[in-house]
Formats: sequence, structure tokens, C-alpha cells
Amino acid sequence: MKYSSVGTTGIEASRMILGCMRMAGLSTQEAAKVLSATREHGINFYDHADIYGGGQSEKVFAAAAKEIGLKRDDIFLQSKVGIRKGFFDFSKDHILTAVDGVLERLETDYLDFLLLHRPDTLVEPEEVAAAFEQLQQSGKVRHFGVSNQNPMQIELLQKFVPMKLQANQLQFGPAHTPMIDAGFYVNTLSDAATSRDGSILDYSRLHDMTIQPWSPFLVDLDQGLFIKHPDYQKLTATLTRYAKTYNVTLEAIVMAWILRHPAKMQPIAGSMNPERISGMVRGTEIELSREEWYDIYLSAGNSLP
Ligand SMILES: NC(=O)c1ccc[n+]([C@@H]2O[C@H](COP(=O)([O-])OP(=O)(O)OC[C@H]3O[C@@H](n4cnc5c(N)ncnc54)[C@H](OP(=O)(O)O)[C@@H]3O)[C@@H](O)[C@H]2O)c1
Repeated sequence: MKYSSVGTTGIEASRMILGCMRMAGLSTQEAAKVLSATREHGINFYDHADIYGGGQSEKVFAAAAKEIGLKRDDIFLQSKVGIRKGFFDFSKDHILTAVDGVLERLETDYLDFLLLHRPDTLVEPEEVAAAFEQLQQSGKVRHFGVSNQNPMQIELLQKFVPMKLQANQLQFGPAHTPMIDAGFYVNTLSDAATSRDGSILDYSRLHDMTIQPWSPFLVDLDQGLFIKHPDYQKLTATLTRYAKTYNVTLEAIVMAWILRHPAKMQPIAGSMNPERISGMVRGTEIELSREEWYDIYLSAGNSLP
């Protein structure tokens, strides 16, 4: 496993993060096998959210971690808050209450990273700042970040929040690339020139903010896995070809493709299958050539000017 720093924290965490969104349905024993596989391969960074399985994912994680003796000091725990049933809530009270719930379910005293899950348009950044300051002073949270936010939303928060926002979760993978598409078509009349996120990729690099790509194997949350999607057969065939060339799994090539981007992203894999996770990890050792990277990009139906 390779490691890289998260934002400017100085924390060196595994390039691959395990996402625990799908852990809720697992038994303690099944989850323990997943965590054993991550430990064996040097994955030491785990992503949660208070809403995953209505809190059950965090509980299963805690039980499984205890089962295999995963030491708190050896791992980085991240969770997200701010989504409630039918609305988003970045109020001070909600952030503080939600974090207490997360800590209780994860059976820990602190989070290494707390992210705000989805932008709340009713956000009052002074309240976020007050909540974050209280959480940092009490030792409950060490570092902070956001999720699904664009540069101006981050700037607005950062005007009031004294601590640097270190990470941002955004969907990114070979079948979901709006973050880079518009950059190829600057100053053209092509629809591809439409920027959907305010140049978040370049902003993140400029501000040393780590992007954590979520759902790297999905087209999006509605359309599901790209390998099962009729529009992405060419992409799947290209990835399969490179998998054979490098003697690894298709999933490993997906990881290698994301990690080849010099933005030093830390992708979040959501697999709960120990074998699939082991296969993916080999992708962290592969350095795709520029030609191979573009070949994969174009085979997903993208074009270049
Ligand atoms: N910030 C946000 O708004 C946000 C949104 C969504 C997710 N997330 C985070 O990102 C993490 C990853 O999301 P995700 O789970 O959607 O990501 P993902 O890794 O793209 O998808 C994982 C799912 O795909 C399945 N899968 C992968 N390769 C497969 C294959 N070759 N054949 C069959 N099934 C395959 C996995 O099944 P197996 O378990 O059988 O491998 C699993 O159900 C989440 O856990 C969460 O931490 C964040």
C-alpha cells in the first residue's frame, strides 16, 4: 500500500480508503473479515456517515474492529454528518449532537476527520465555525472537511471556519468524470465545456485539499455499476484488456486509473468482499502510462477537442 498526506494535516493515510456505507447488513464476523483484509493490505483509513444504515454501519464496524483487535491508534476514522430525513442541517446544535452519536456508535473518543455530508443552503457559516471550534477544543474531532461541495461553497465556509478544510468527497471514477471533462473544452461552444462544479479539481490542487472519490465503480447512485451498464461495455472491455496486461483484476485498473491523476486523490472503495478488496489493492502499485490513462478515459464515451 502507498500512503499520502491528507490535505496539509501531515497525516499519511493509505491511498485507498474503505467506505463503510454498505457495512450495515453484515454480521460482525463478515465485517471482521473485511477489516482483516484491509489491515492485511495496509488500508488504515475508514469512511463512515451517521446515516449509513441509520447508524448501523458504524455499530457493525465497531463490533468487528473489536473482534479482530484493530487498534484505534493504528487507524484513521472519518465520519460525515449534516443529512437528516428529508433535509440538510449544518446548524451548530445538529452538528454537535450528530458527532456525539457517531462517537458513541463507533465506540471511540475522537474522529480523525469530520466532513459535512451535503451542502445545506440554509447554512450559517458562523454556526459551523462555532461547532467545529467546540469539537476541536474538546478533542472530539481532529480535522475537518466537506463533501460534495464546490469552490465557492468551501470559500464561504472557510471565511468563518478558522481551521483549514482538508478534504472533499466527490464522485469520480472512469464512468463518472464531470470533474475533468469541462477542462478539456475550455473556451469552446461544445456542451462538454459546461463546468458543473466550479473547477473543483483545480481548486483542490491549488488549496492542498484532498479529493476522496466516492463510488468509483458506479455510473452514479441511480444507474449503478458501470460494468453492468450497456453504455459502458467499451470501458469494461478496455479495463479488462489492461487487467490482463498487468495480470490484475479490473478493479485494480480502476484504482490505478484514479491514482494516476497527479491530484493525489484518495479513492473510497465500498466493496464488502475481502477478495475484491485484495484485488483492488494491487492497483495502488501500478503506474499507468499517459497513453493508457487517456485510452481508458476515451473508451468511457468521452472525447477530446
Ligand atoms: N459523500 C458522499 O455523498 C458519498 C456518496 C456515496 C458513497 N460515499 C462513500 O463512498 C464509499 C464507496 O461507495 P460505493 O460503495 O457506492 O462504491 P463502489 O466501490 O463504487 O461500489 C461498491 C459496490 O459495487 C460492488 N462491486 C464492485 N465491483 C464489482 C464487481 N466487479 N462485480 C459486482 N459488484 C461489484 C460492490 O459489491 P461487493 O461488496 O460484492 O464487492 C459494492 O456493492 C461508500 O462506502 C461511502 O463511504 C460517499
